[in-house]
This record gives sequence, structure tokens and C-alpha cells, in this order.
Amino acid sequence: MVDFKKLVVDILKQNIADSEESEILSMIEIPPNPQMGDFAFPCFKLAKTFRKAPPLIAKDIVNAIKPTTYFEKIEQVGGYINFFVHKAILVEETMKEVFVKKELYGSDDLGKGKNVIVEFSSPNIAKPFHIGHIRSTVIGSSINRIYKFLGFNTIAINHLGDYGTQFGKLIVAFKKWGNEEEVRESPIPTLLKLYIQFHDEAEKDPALEEEGRMWFTRLENGDAEALELWKWFRDVSLEEFNRVYNLLGISFDSLAGESFYSDKMPQVLKMMEEKNVLEKSEGADIVNLESYGLPPALIRKKDGSTLYITRDITAAIYRKETYDFYKNIYVVASQQNLHFEQWIKIIEMMGFEWARDCLHVPFGLVRLEEGTIATRKGRVVFLEDVLKKAIEKTKEIIKDKNPNISNLEEVAEDVGVGAIVFQELSNNRIKDYTFSWDKVLNFEGETGPYVQYTYARASSVLRKADVPVDIEINSALLTDDITMEVVRGIQQFPEVVKDAQRKNEPSIITRHIIDIAQAFNRFYHDHPVLVEEKEIKRARLAIVFSVRQVIGIGLNLLGIKAPEKM
Ligand code: ARG
Repeated sequence: MVDFKKLVVDILKQNIADSEESEILSMIEIPPNPQMGDFAFPCFKLAKTFRKAPPLIAKDIVNAIKPTTYFEKIEQVGGYINFFVHKAILVEETMKEVFVKKELYGSDDLGKGKNVIVEFSSPNIAKPFHIGHIRSTVIGSSINRIYKFLGFNTIAINHLGDYGTQFGKLIVAFKKWGNEEEVRESPIPTLLKLYIQFHDEAEKDPALEEEGRMWFTRLENGDAEALELWKWFRDVSLEEFNRVYNLLGISFDSLAGESFYSDKMPQVLKMMEEKNVLEKSEGADIVNLESYGLPPALIRKKDGSTLYITRDITAAIYRKETYDFYKNIYVVASQQNLHFEQWIKIIEMMGFEWARDCLHVPFGLVRLEEGTIATRKGRVVFLEDVLKKAIEKTKEIIKDKNPNISNLEEVAEDVGVGAIVFQELSNNRIKDYTFSWDKVLNFEGETGPYVQYTYARASSVLRKADVPVDIEINSALLTDDITMEVVRGIQQFPEVVKDAQRKNEPSIITRHIIDIAQAFNRFYHDHPVLVEEKEIKRARLAIVFSVRQVIGIGLNLLGIKAPEKM
């Protein structure tokens, strides 16, 4: 595809003496609305060198530019030079690119040969997979897909919270009050209940805490009974998690969680001693981070037991050795900012230059609108229940809209789950947001169902078309403002994907496909597609084809299915 931005750079370079290509490139802007051109070049920074007012500089440059085929207008407005791409050429180039690349439109090989670890989800065993975990799961999965699409070799890791003193407590609670049958029937709720009971009882009987610690030590030392129970808790928990992952269409390349590092920590602790980063404090080992303005990090307790942070330090070193990563990304709530700051700093103190390649990608909280989700009193909201409810509600809506649909179950699942995922990925990840059913399932708003519906509509038009869609179209028929808005959205898509990767921000793609869907629906409303006139029909079908393709790719990068009918 013609790189229009590059053409702008070339033109400017010829007309601005002594200018660096990369500098010009970095100064080029995309104006907020197409009335101001497709590209704009601000001349303010040149005022010093040229000793002229910016509007004058802009004017002189514009006057010197020779006419070109690719731009229909290059004009000076104030201190800016605005470039208007020749519309028919833009249409033709964009359509051609989509036709040739199809489902690979927007993909790239910029990540070729680079290993990127994307760690996400990472729930805690024997604890509910609740609505808060969905954020890490869904944002992480999308980031993983985006990197892959841009040619990176990604490794999706679920760093399960499957280790620590709480498992000693759980073993005690199970042995005292648990029963196998009940755990089998309903694993996580039962284990959660036992865990809560342990804490209630321990308030009355402090000796329980000691017993819990002892069982964790037995687990750490490989005691057969402790290991067997722990493994069983882990297996039944994973079964529950997997049901959710299946609904979401998510899989991992590695489930190396906290327990995976239990036999690797001694060596790392030794290394930390050798590198002199550990300090004794009341019998425990800590890292003093005062000179970095951070509180000290507890690495090994007085009784020799290790901590969450010890495992993260060990995991990072293991990952570098195993995968030689280019980037090691952690999609974890912003509540853990301090934890990540601390251990990444410790890695740096140990002399590992790759500390800078470990990246915490934080996100904000989900709040639940009062009464939006049926919470059984005092209990957490289980993600599986939310997804199931979304599917049920969607089924009702679709039955109403399209009573003859043949694969209702499947579509309701794709749309219901997609709606939840889409909402998750609609806002800037760092923002807290409030979950609301009305917003999630609205077919008219800026929602997943709306975008999926647009995809289904485009698919339906293509099915009904009696002429094949092909590249040979009269592009001049697609240069009106309404159509151009669709074309621009499609043309910008590859840049949008790269921007989302640079910022680790899937919502950039979400927003963009909402824009394309809205522009397309305006187009569709105004420009009947299946008309008599063959030339017009073929040109408009090309738009329908491209929109369907790009929305499909966008949804896929977000981890959302695109039903052909709904
Ligand atoms: N299991 C932890 C939790 O649920 C999240 C783990 C995040 N990842 C990490 N490498 N620390 O809070």
C-alpha cells in the first residue's frame, strides 16, 4: 500500500533545507477532522531557524511544492500545512490492501524473532474466580493476541496463585471440618467456606495458626499427605477455572504458577546473598529500598519461609533463562503497583539489565452497580455466573429480534460473552469502571452486540449479493464524505493496531472498531448497496466487504467471536 505519510515526509524534505527525515516524521499530525486534511505539518518549531513567522514559513513551503498525483490539495492554514490525499487513490489503495491481505490486514512482522511473555489471569487456587479477575484475563488475552498479530512470538503464562501459607491453613481446615464429597460437588465454594471458617475459629483458638504454618512447612518439605491434599485442591480449582477459560475461548502456553518456583527459590536466595542485596532485620531477610524511596521488601521470614515477592523474583530470572524474552509483561491490578516496583527494582539491583524489559501493565477496579448482579448475600460474584447470565439475557433479546435463527444457543453464547469482554475492553484500562447490565447488552450503544450486529449485517449483505466482490471497482464512486469516513477508518486500522501494542491498550482497537461500525451504519443507511446499477453496486460491495473484514479482525484481536448471523 502506498505509504501516504512517507510521501508527505518526502515532499517536506525537498522543501525544507537541512531537515532530518525522522524529525519531520515525528512532527506530522493527523488532524482531528478530515476538513483539515489527512495530514498536517506544524511549522512552529521552524520559526527559530527560519527567522520568520510560522504562517509565512508554511506559505513559502506550500508555494514551493510541485503538484503531485497523490495529493489533491496542499494548503497553508495559519502555521500549518494541511495535506489532502487524493480521495479516489486513497480509496483504491485501501480497498486493494484489504482484498489482498484479507484476514491478515493490519498484521505485521515487526516482532519477528522476539519472544514476549504475556502473563495474565493468574487467579488464586481455592478462591473464587470473581469479576475482578476478568480484567486481567480479558485484557491480557487481548494483549497477547495483538502482539502475536504483529509477529511477536508470544508465551501466555498463567501464574497461578497455588502456593503459600494459606494452603497450610486450608489443609488444617479440611482435615478438621471438611468432607470429600462436598468438595467434589462444589469445589471452590466449599474450599472458600473452609478457609473462612479457619479464620473465624483461629480468632478463638490461636493455636490453629501455628498448626497451619506447620502444615505449610510440611508441604514445602514434600510431605506426602500435604502434597496430596494440595494437589487435589489445585486440580479441582483448575477444573472450575477451565470452564470459564473455555467460555472465554482462552488458553495458556504455560501454567507455571507460584508453586513451580518452590524448588528454584533456594538458588535465587543464594544469588541474592552473593550479590549483597539481602539484609538481616529481626532475623528475617529483607532488601532495603530506602534510597529508591520505597519501603523495604521482606524476602524470607524468620522461620525460613518464602513470600509472594520471592517467587516473583525467582520467576523473572527463570523466564529470562528459559525464554530470553524481549519483553516480560504482567497484566495485574494497579493495587499491586508497589509490589511490582519493588521486585523489578531488586532485579535491577542484582545487576540484571533486563529489569527494564519487565513491564507491569496495571488496570483499575470494577465496581458493581447496586443490584446489577444477583449476589447471594455476603458472597463474591462468580465470573461464571456473570457469563451465564449474560448468555441467558442475550438469548431473550435475540429470540425477540430474530425468531427464526437456527443456532440460537451458539449465537447467544458468542454475543453474551462477547458483550462482557467488549465492555471490559472499552475503557482505558487504568480507569475504574462500573459494571452495568443495561450498558453491556444494549444493541444500539457503543457495545459488543452493536459491533457484532454490524458484522452480521455486512455478512448478510454479502450473502445476498448476486455479483462477486472484487477489486476492480470505480473508486471515484466512493469519495463522498460519508463513505470516506468508512474508508479512513479502514485505512487507519493498521496504525491503530500498532498503537494499541505500543501502549498495551486494547481499548484503542475497541474504540476504533466502534467508530468504523458507526460510520458504516451511516453509510448503509444513506447508500443502498444492492442496487440495479452494477458499477455502484460493485463499488459499495467493496466497502461492505472491507468493513466486515476489518471488524472481524478487530473483534478477533479483542478475543471476541463474530457471528455471521444474529
Ligand atoms: N495471584 C495474584 C492475585 O490474584 C496475582 C498474581 C499476579 N502475578 C504476579 N506475577 N505476581 O492477586
